[in-house]
Amino acid sequence: MLPEPGMPDLVLPSPLMRCNHPFLSEKNITLFVKRDDLIHPEISGNKYRKFKFNLEKIKLSNAETVITFGGAFSNHLHATAATCHYLGIKSIGIVRGEETSSGNPTLQFCRDKGMILHFIPRNEYRLKTDSELVKDIINLYSHPYILPEGGSNPEALSGVAEIWNELTLQINEPVDYIFCAAGTGATLAGLLKHGPQKTHILGFSSLKSNHLKDEIQNMAGKKTINNFTFFEDYHFGGYAKTTPELLEFIHSFENITGIPMDYVYNGKAVYGLFELIRKNYFPDKSVIVWLHTGGLQGNQGLPYLKK
Ligand SMILES: Cc1ncc(COP(=O)(O)O)c(C=O)c1O
Repeated sequence: MLPEPGMPDLVLPSPLMRCNHPFLSEKNITLFVKRDDLIHPEISGNKYRKFKFNLEKIKLSNAETVITFGGAFSNHLHATAATCHYLGIKSIGIVRGEETSSGNPTLQFCRDKGMILHFIPRNEYRLKTDSELVKDIINLYSHPYILPEGGSNPEALSGVAEIWNELTLQINEPVDYIFCAAGTGATLAGLLKHGPQKTHILGFSSLKSNHLKDEIQNMAGKKTINNFTFFEDYHFGGYAKTTPELLEFIHSFENITGIPMDYVYNGKAVYGLFELIRKNYFPDKSVIVWLHTGGLQGNQGLPYLKK
């Protein structure tokens, strides 16, 4: 008999660990890592957080199909395909750009989980649901639930907010700073919207953008936020771009701490944090939490990067 569809076991609350690194001890900084990357190997990091309340809406709306968007190595497509597979829901991925013939492991995983992929040109992709092509694809499916790129919508923000409740139970000392990487910015917006004023929130953009900070504040429903600082200088050339320096940093950090990172998001954010510590940005004895947003599967894109 086939098992009933249902979510697999998830590691929740996600563990909070102390990050041991000689540089941090030398600088008198305490760094904790909220290991959302350990929530589930296929639905890791901020993905489960973003899905949680969307899944409730999907159930309530009796949707038969989830349609969503992403790039060729998208963590979001990967996690959506896995989640829908476990729940017995049909999943459709609208993929940015042409299909390449060189066997992409992320998209292969999505297909193996039953996701149907539609590839569309980048100029159409940019238009999102305003694109006629996208509208035609959506019309192919009955009762669809449309999940935006990155799973970033108001429900996602409520899911991210649960991190605060977990942290309150896991840590006794005041958290001076919390930081994470930004793509669409919804994870940061969730932290900002529902977080305590006394913790300063730091965001590190993984892409070149000069309007993401405003978008994050808008998503959080706040015009100006005193406890929010956004850094845009640690994108290493742009989204999913990297440099030997970044890869060397990730490698060394992983060797010393045993904590793996992806090069698209977390590697850039932690690199940025270390730079700030080096410049004595933080007061002595600061307590900082890194929200590890997962995305390790994205490292499969590394060999495919254009040289
Ligand atoms: C692993 C990982 N970290 C961080 C982010 C950035 O999250 P957000 O799009 O909510 O800013 C993403 C993208 O969603 C991601 O896949």
